[in-house]
Amino acid sequence: MINRIKSKRSETGFLDGMLTVLHSHKQPVQFNNVYRRDHVSLFLGNSLQFYETWSRPTVIIADGPYGLGSYPGDPPTPEFLADWYEPHFRWWTQQAKPSTTLWFWNSELGWANVHSKIQEWGWEFRNCHIWNKGIGHIAGNCNTQTIRKFPVTTEVCVQYVRNAEFVVNGRKLSMRDWLRYEWNRSGLPFSKTNEACGTKNAATRKYFTKDHLWYYPPPEAFEQIQKYANRFGQKEGRPYFSTDGVKPLTAGEWEMMRPKFYCKNGITNVWEEPAVRGAERLKTLSKCIHNNQKPLKLLERCIEASSDVGDVVWEPFGGLCSVAIAAHRLKRTAVSAEINPDYFNIAVKRLENYDVF
Ligand SMILES: C[S@@+](CC[C@H](N)C(=O)[O-])C[C@H]1O[C@@H](n2cnc3c(N)ncnc32)[C@H](O)[C@@H]1O
Repeated sequence: MINRIKSKRSETGFLDGMLTVLHSHKQPVQFNNVYRRDHVSLFLGNSLQFYETWSRPTVIIADGPYGLGSYPGDPPTPEFLADWYEPHFRWWTQQAKPSTTLWFWNSELGWANVHSKIQEWGWEFRNCHIWNKGIGHIAGNCNTQTIRKFPVTTEVCVQYVRNAEFVVNGRKLSMRDWLRYEWNRSGLPFSKTNEACGTKNAATRKYFTKDHLWYYPPPEAFEQIQKYANRFGQKEGRPYFSTDGVKPLTAGEWEMMRPKFYCKNGITNVWEEPAVRGAERLKTLSKCIHNNQKPLKLLERCIEASSDVGDVVWEPFGGLCSVAIAAHRLKRTAVSAEINPDYFNIAVKRLENYDVF
């Protein structure tokens, strides 16, 4: 029996058990068992069957198997996790945009088993965040002589990004190399980038350096550089700083070429937050419903750091669909999949009612 979840708005949300997803170039796809509230949709089933139909994400928050056997379907050990996840990585890579951030939650060992596979699929490591649940997590009385190690009170949430790649004559160039390549093509000396940006030497030094001190040119600076090259650069090579060979990128388009990131003061890579408890923890009379329920506070942190209102958030492994709740609170568009009908039904009631009581 579930407490704390009461169904008050059951007449809303369910789309008569069926949702039709339209894509621009394909036949409509129909799914049974979809629940929607505002811009947040929960899908019952394997996320692999949905990715193709979901709008491309700005944020992916993946809290899937850990290899701990802690809920039905979680493999008993982490050693084959990379193989387990690979079909998902394939889809995430295919559907991601240059502005997409992936937040990958797992145990330390689970992550260690999949990290190189994530990189193989083109994701660049940005940061590893340690979620420290504190001593309360083990109630302070773990038998270390039996387990022969210090007790574990942490999980990780690892941030990956997809940096833009520019293909030139079949060769992939990083953003930094592409900027240099395009400016070189214009036939102008690099010192002229300062004139383009109205600075003494900052543009050449920051945006056109070959070394690791390279900075991403802000959109206004990019547009100044682009306009200068297209006005004064050799006529035969125009347009410069274009990805379609027809028109140069605008400041707005340039901004979409890198992942969003907003950081509130005082937040570091160590996240001190107790495991979910109190009213937020979904329970039957005596037991937690899902061992892996994540704190809304931390999920909101991920979402706020890497997206704006209205952006699309993916939750491929829903559980109790905590990401969907966080996304709804923050007015993002979100899609979640949960394969287990019991968890799915609880998640539906949760989304339906989370703000009612
Ligand atoms: C770690 S739990 C997620 C917990 C969730 N973050 C929360 O706060 O409730 C992972 C969930 O993913 C589900 N799952 C596993 N493989 C899946 C798949 N291929 N598609 C959809 N859901 C899946 C499992 O049933 C499990 O409930």
